[in-house]
Amino acid sequence: MNIVMVNGQFVERNEAKVDIEDRGYQFGDGIYEVIRVYNGKMFAASEHLERLVECAGKIKLTLPFSNTDIQTMLQTLIEKNALTTGIVYLQSSRGVAVRNHAFPTTDTVASFIAYTKELPRPLHNITNGVKAALVEDERWLKCDIKSLNLLGNILAKQEAAELGCFEAILHRGETVTEGSSSNISIVKDGVVYTHQADKYILNGITRQQMLALCGVHSIAFEEKSFTVEELLNADEVFMTSTTAEVTPIIEIAGRKIGTGAPGSISIKLQQLLASEIARQCGRIYLEIDR
Ligand code: PDD
Repeated sequence: MNIVMVNGQFVERNEAKVDIEDRGYQFGDGIYEVIRVYNGKMFAASEHLERLVECAGKIKLTLPFSNTDIQTMLQTLIEKNALTTGIVYLQSSRGVAVRNHAFPTTDTVASFIAYTKELPRPLHNITNGVKAALVEDERWLKCDIKSLNLLGNILAKQEAAELGCFEAILHRGETVTEGSSSNISIVKDGVVYTHQADKYILNGITRQQMLALCGVHSIAFEEKSFTVEELLNADEVFMTSTTAEVTPIIEIAGRKIGTGAPGSISIKLQQLLASEIARQCGRIYLEIDR
């Protein structure tokens, strides 16, 4: 089955339509979320939907549904598609209106779509780590908004992909900000450092979960930016995101990080996150095939 949700209606994917003047399609004038699904249940759904509401406020978008209604619709969608492990993607744009940069009239209702996708946990990457490239962060100054405009992120990711790397680590001059689709953390002398949540990064839900777990399990951490040099000389580097969970980065711009293998704090955080996922969504494999 391939059922998607369009403006509150569940329809077959091949029957779903986007108007050519939808502002999401024309301007990227909208926001989105990606929520992980394990055992048919959403992980950290309320946190994702709270961020959606925050981002809607930041772009002055009135969402057409309440969070309670969105959560119910997403769960129905997951069930209709019999999804066990994967993601649910949702986006809301400023609706359909005659092309004009300024906002349309207030009676224009925001568009809202969601669909599910099967996606296994990336156990190979989680276990073995990935390579990353260094790319200058040339995006705008509202990176805290989960905007549909992803050109800056896409161009950076493509640059990394062409170098055979899984992720692009972005930096504004000397300061590391985040990944093209993830947050970046380093470990130095037992302390986890990650860029503070400000306009230069998306305050990732996985990042927030990871920091909360550090707090509960007495792993020292600081929300403080670090330099490219500190990144390259870190004991461990890892990325966090909804789809990547905690994925170690073992090589950056051709240079080995630490021993060149996933570090002990990264592994500890993977296990703690997996326990938290299991607590919310039921059993998942905690033992990664190491
Ligand atoms: N990307 N930073 C950026 C630029 C991102 O695009 C993402 C997520 C994150 C991590 O956020 P979270 O932990 O809430 O997933 C950080 C999603 C998964 C995507 O665009 O597919």
